[in-house]
Amino acid sequence: MTDNNNSKQKLEQKLGEALGLEMAAQKAVEELSSKGLLDKRGIKGKIEGMKKEAGNHQTELEELIEKLAESENIDSENIEEVAEETQEKASKMMQIYLGEDPDSSEAIEFLCLAEGGEVTHYEILSAIAKDIKNKELSGKVNSILEEEKNHLQMCIQLGKENAVSS
Ligand SMILES: [Fe+2]
Repeated sequence: MTDNNNSKQKLEQKLGEALGLEMAAQKAVEELSSKGLLDKRGIKGKIEGMKKEAGNHQTELEELIEKLAESENIDSENIEEVAEETQEKASKMMQIYLGEDPDSSEAIEFLCLAEGGEVTHYEILSAIAKDIKNKELSGKVNSILEEEKNHLQMCIQLGKENAVSS
């Protein structure tokens, strides 16, 4: 396998994982909300805002993947498969993390974990974008990364507030 193929595969893998995590984040908020775990004052609105941004990121990634399929000749079907698989894994992780009788703090802490995963993946994608010198990919990934860092900070803040107010 040439280096070129290798970096293309890495890009497909990481784009798929990022896309899957964005899909999983939205699903997680829906599930946690429906269980009434995000009902506390000051929590719901902020997390709904985060979910909306995850939806925007999903759309932005999908548009980006379409463009990269042309410019970098990456395989969008492979990316979709990885995304699907990642979403399933994230969903299983959430069930394991929450266990039988979850409370709000566990719900918020799981979201912190998920946001941490997103930050990590966009950091890695940013490094790959720099390596393959693709400005469009770099620009998009770095702008999403900044928002993900804010999501993580917000989740941590909510976790702290929730811990001292309950
Ligand atoms: Fe996020």
